[in-house]
Amino acid sequence: MGGPSVASREFAAACEQLLPRIEDALKQAVSPEKLQPSDVPERLRSAMEYSLLAGGKRLRPVLVLLGCDACGGNWEDALPAACAVEMIHTYSLIHDDLPSMDNDDIRRGRPTCHRQFDDATAILAGDALLTLAFETMATEIADPAVAARCCQTLAQASGAAGMVGGQMADLAGEGRFDDERPEQFQDDPEAAVTHLEAIHRRKTGALLANSLKLGGIVARASTEQLDSLTIYGNSVGLAFQIADDVLDVVGSAQELGKGVRKDADLGKLTYPSVLGLDASRDRAETLIETAERAVAGFGSRQNALIGLARFVLERNH
Ligand code: IPE
Ligand code: IPE
Ligand code: MG
Ligand code: MG
Ligand code: MG
Repeated sequence: MGGPSVASREFAAACEQLLPRIEDALKQAVSPEKLQPSDVPERLRSAMEYSLLAGGKRLRPVLVLLGCDACGGNWEDALPAACAVEMIHTYSLIHDDLPSMDNDDIRRGRPTCHRQFDDATAILAGDALLTLAFETMATEIADPAVAARCCQTLAQASGAAGMVGGQMADLAGEGRFDDERPEQFQDDPEAAVTHLEAIHRRKTGALLANSLKLGGIVARASTEQLDSLTIYGNSVGLAFQIADDVLDVVGSAQELGKGVRKDADLGKLTYPSVLGLDASRDRAETLIETAERAVAGFGSRQNALIGLARFVLERNH
């Protein structure tokens, strides 16, 4: 292992190399050349573009490309899968911000999609990004067997047993559905954490973990390599949402580019609300240590992944 400074240097270098390529590929995917005005209503296309190109951290596409590289693949071959994951993630954010969900006004430092356009346009822009993700992989991944496996993996990660299911459980945790009252955990914090972990693993962890797996699939990784990436991804994925919960309490809206101190207002079940801030940070730290150990077998290619894991823990945005 190269130590923390080598890891963060290599993560920064990887971002410098990969981010422009990711931005460029995303830009092309929602350009009028691809989404022709004769077929795609301009209001819909510009809402998709507005949210997709709003400048997120692009952590999931970077994970796809690093996962591919770690398994000995050519990262450029994984660009369609990287774009697909970011499209799904952006759609999930557009819908997450809607008045009927988290009701947020600011995202990625600008008005949320429904604030900039309107609710119906935001719903449809999300729908269109979701479907474009699968079209992109089915069309642009050369080997049909690899494309099919990527589509299956991304569908599982983002569907009813993954992100969408987690979002449903997150809303149920607020106590807003009469037929699905949240469990009461006052006397049993460990049971509360188990319940919360199940929400976080689906709503956020699944997409992050499977980003790495998609990269591995494109690289035709061995089962052993995929298992290591899965342990790393599960740990980083859960730590990521714990950090997001902590940042909602202690972060700055300006740095985060989104509203803060919202979770408590909505009565969300979060790590800080169940465990407190210090124990939440400790859990995230332990998860990141697990992630670091999981990629030890990747030789020098582990460094950027370790740097990314540290960033997840230490980030302020
Ligand atoms: C925010 O994700 C939503 C969560 C899953 C917690 P990110 O923090 O990765 O958001 P962007 O993509 O950088 O805007
Ligand atoms: C969102 O979690 C998870 C998604 C699937 C989008 P949050 O609701 O905590 O994300 P933020 O804080 O709004 O970015
Ligand atoms: Mg939410
Ligand atoms: Mg939200
Ligand atoms: Mg949050």
